[in-house]
Amino acid sequence: MEEIERHQHDVLVIGAGGAGLRAAIEAKRVGAKVAVLCKSLLGKAHTVMAEGGAAAALATVAPEDSWEIHFRDTIRGGKGMSDWRMALALAQEAPARIRELEAWGALFDRTADGRILVRPFGGHTHARLAHVGDRTGLEMIRTLQDRVVALDIPAYMECTVIRLLKDGPRIAGALAYRRATGHFVLFRAKAIILATGGAGKAWLVTSNSWEYTGDGHALATQAGADLIGMEFMQFHPTGMVWPPSVHGTLVTEGVRGEGGVLRNSKGDRFMFRYIPEAWRAEYAATEEEADRWVAGHRSARRPPELLTRDVTARAIVQEVAEGRGSPHGGVYLDIATKRDPEYIRRKLPSMYHQFKELAGVDITKEPMEVGPTVHYIMGGVKVDPETQESTVPGLFAAGEVAGGLHGANRLGGNSLSDLLVFGRRAGSGAAAYATRAGAWASVNEHEIEEAVRAALAPFERGDGENPFAIHNELRHLMQHKVGSARARAGLEEAVEEIRTLRGRAACARVTGGREYNPGWHTWLDLHSLLTVSELVARAALERSESRGAHTRDDYPREDPELARLHIVVRRDADRITTRREPIPEPPPELKQILEGKKASG
Ligand code: FUM
Repeated sequence: MEEIERHQHDVLVIGAGGAGLRAAIEAKRVGAKVAVLCKSLLGKAHTVMAEGGAAAALATVAPEDSWEIHFRDTIRGGKGMSDWRMALALAQEAPARIRELEAWGALFDRTADGRILVRPFGGHTHARLAHVGDRTGLEMIRTLQDRVVALDIPAYMECTVIRLLKDGPRIAGALAYRRATGHFVLFRAKAIILATGGAGKAWLVTSNSWEYTGDGHALATQAGADLIGMEFMQFHPTGMVWPPSVHGTLVTEGVRGEGGVLRNSKGDRFMFRYIPEAWRAEYAATEEEADRWVAGHRSARRPPELLTRDVTARAIVQEVAEGRGSPHGGVYLDIATKRDPEYIRRKLPSMYHQFKELAGVDITKEPMEVGPTVHYIMGGVKVDPETQESTVPGLFAAGEVAGGLHGANRLGGNSLSDLLVFGRRAGSGAAAYATRAGAWASVNEHEIEEAVRAALAPFERGDGENPFAIHNELRHLMQHKVGSARARAGLEEAVEEIRTLRGRAACARVTGGREYNPGWHTWLDLHSLLTVSELVARAALERSESRGAHTRDDYPREDPELARLHIVVRRDADRITTRREPIPEPPPELKQILEGKKASG
């Protein structure tokens, strides 16, 4: 076998988005020898797609905001499925994490008196999103990356992990390949943090870029970890729908946060018709009232465009299905009639350029055509809320790849605070584990040889399918049978078809050399894509109700029996199994907050 490059770190962080970078900074701070590994170049992460802001009860614009209200909004937005311990940590720690980021050099937009400016977002009772125009994620990544570089944390770029290695029950390392050369790299580590982000590339229409193939979800599954909430896939209500080359590209919720409104082809501001009964008291009943709220009259109620993403995405789908869609199958998002051009260009510069350059639309004059796009997976690795350790000793997860915080529907902006709060916890949890672990776990050289041989197998075949064709079929399958609305028959077909695609992938062929070979990389990604697709389809089958982002056409209502149960998926021997597990109950004092009996501390 070829010589394999080898490295050894106390803590290895797989993924260099916000969660991975924040975790590495913390692990280093507490004294661990830590390294970051990323599939792409440093700084290229889905974190930048959280454009509109990071949610934190800073109370700079709405003095009445508090961690209690943020906590309640998060649990309510997640339809009661969030782990209360994680929601509590998020709500209580987010302000400190934002201020810390500011101290490290992040330049947030300011109020007139110089404090961090926050904007409204869907499902948040008060304006709560600290932002930098519509480039918040980018600013966060820039700041964290600068710090990682300043702290001299090694970063292995363009390096993809294909297998986690264990010594008995505990984690021992990871086998990766370098995308540029095709050579393999072995990382021994006492603790590993998965911070690989999501899995949007298993669907056809997505805001995710090529890296997001569910690698962390698949690696955790291979290692035997439990995953929860995999049935909950978030369709962001507003992605571009035209031209086809940019279908799915994110249109930030910040547009609606700044007063943008949704209309159908008849010019009807339809969201007023979709306010859930339970939330009527909180949302404006008329355009006039909504406009007054945007103008700053706090006696008015919030516009219905600021309902949660699950509700908004479903409303758009329904408008289109009932024949009131735009020419390219979306609806209209209009900010031009609500804000003056200078304001739009200042607060939404990326959106302005994105539409001008990609669609030839001037958003200061014309509405945008938008529709739902797969954006974020709420489900992921089941973790301990304090340390982010998974059910596999030494394996941790943070950010989108971790499950539990967002329940059945994530509130916009909670992802950026999630990655700061839980990235930090994962970094300290993993470093503490590495200290406790003592001697290095051993890696099995036969297992490594076997994994390398398996990874190179498609080069050996004289014949076989093209991996791109298989990926393309999977994306259509997931979009149509495991999409925003599902039903038993389609889900069962999907599970069967994923099995068939897996068989076809096992016989696929790759041509050319190992240097920067996209066909080979896609073939390797197929393993993750097919695994995560099966996890989602099986969990979706098991949840026989509609809740949050999970809509079952055959079970259109919430089932109270399932309200306090997670669907847990895991690999047992060679098959994926599902089971139900109770969600921990919050203590009485937090229940009071959730019931609105104690709104602010
Ligand atoms: O719309 C957005 O700016 C996305 C934010 C998020 O997903 O948190």
